[in-house]
Amino acid sequence: MRGRVTGQAMELLGSGASRISVSRLFLSTPAKAAAPLSDRRFRSTSSMSSYTELARERSKTVTSFYNQSAIDASAEKPSVRLTPATMLYAGKSPDGQHVLSSASYLHKELPVRIAHRIKGFRSLPFIIGCNPTILQVHELYIRAYHMLSDFPAIKDQETEARYSKLVKQLLDDHKDVVTMLAEGFRECRKHIMPDFVGIICRRLSPKKIIEKWVDFARRLCEHQYGNSPRVRINGHVAARFPFIPLPLDYILPELLKNAMRATMESHLDTPYNVPDIVVTIANNDTDFVIRISDRGSGIPHSILDQVMDYHFSTAEQSAQDPRMSNLFNNITNSGPQSGPMHGFGFGLPTSRAYAEYLGGSLAIQSMQGIGTDVYLRLRHIDGKGESFRV
Ligand SMILES: Nc1ncnc2c1ncn2[C@@H]1O[C@H](COP(=O)(O)OP(=O)(O)OP(=O)(O)O)[C@@H](O)[C@H]1O
Ligand SMILES: [Mg+2]
Repeated sequence: MRGRVTGQAMELLGSGASRISVSRLFLSTPAKAAAPLSDRRFRSTSSMSSYTELARERSKTVTSFYNQSAIDASAEKPSVRLTPATMLYAGKSPDGQHVLSSASYLHKELPVRIAHRIKGFRSLPFIIGCNPTILQVHELYIRAYHMLSDFPAIKDQETEARYSKLVKQLLDDHKDVVTMLAEGFRECRKHIMPDFVGIICRRLSPKKIIEKWVDFARRLCEHQYGNSPRVRINGHVAARFPFIPLPLDYILPELLKNAMRATMESHLDTPYNVPDIVVTIANNDTDFVIRISDRGSGIPHSILDQVMDYHFSTAEQSAQDPRMSNLFNNITNSGPQSGPMHGFGFGLPTSRAYAEYLGGSLAIQSMQGIGTDVYLRLRHIDGKGESFRV
């Protein structure tokens, strides 16, 4: 019985929710009358009234992150586990000796188990360990460790009663830790990218990242033109490999915006019936290629040499098309000036610079009068060829 309640006490120290006296918890006997707590240190957080006291308590625990040799030593000790049989046969003695031996067991064992938990907190990833809610639980454990390990040896019933009171307080102070941990981890979720090693995604899916930017570009396009072309993705759609998503996060929206703009502006008479854009993925041991094919009439011969120049844009011209201004005004109220879809003349040259920096290329094939194919070729970072340097 003793062991069962001991385990329960351990668990409750972690998960809380108990108002049962520790003696009762451990031994199924009524709690002794508690002696007054002389040491202020043993006050529960729930009874801490002033903010300054809480702040002092906190700074003490935070300091102990760096001055923790006692915790380090305890964390190295193995915890002494009790079997149900040990608990069953430990029995009860009429003089109450069993109460003292139970308390002594806990007195020795609780700091060790709590030190193990603290060690767990310390090995959390930095971004999780810094979360204020997780940190608060971490501090609670450090505080509990010190309060329990500073407690004098339990030699008489009066000390046992005080110890019971202390553990009861701690159970109460820790009653919300499971909720706090859940809350803290929920808050951290947005910062955790399990598939990432630094900026490298271990299993990047070109299809997924393309889809993400298709959604983005379509929303922009709909806002500006009232409709957007559908995008079909084919080729090696199941490919996954290690890569850095950052450059793709720049290049893909730029290329998709260009393709969507060309499609919409070459179909101004039928804005609700525009041809699809097709994105093809080709993956091999050395590199991977993403081709974006639109039916946006292509890039005229006269400007083909300039589209890769910084600051070259045909945004001004399209804004002057009377049908465009009608579309803009009627559909989006955004006016005929160039919107976020295009206008700076930076999309292509910057995308090419990124691609080349990564040991790849950005090439344009225009079928004047029909459409444009843009080929983004990028080298694998773990492929056969030499990779770029960061
Ligand atoms: N798929 C395409 N079809 C037809 N013309 C295109 C296509 N992609 C680019 N262009 C032409 O090349 C020009 C330069 O493109 P670029 O993306 O560099 O600049 P932009 O789209 O005008 O402005 P932004 O800096 O906002 O991207 C465009 O203005 C457009 O005339
Ligand atoms: Mg552009």
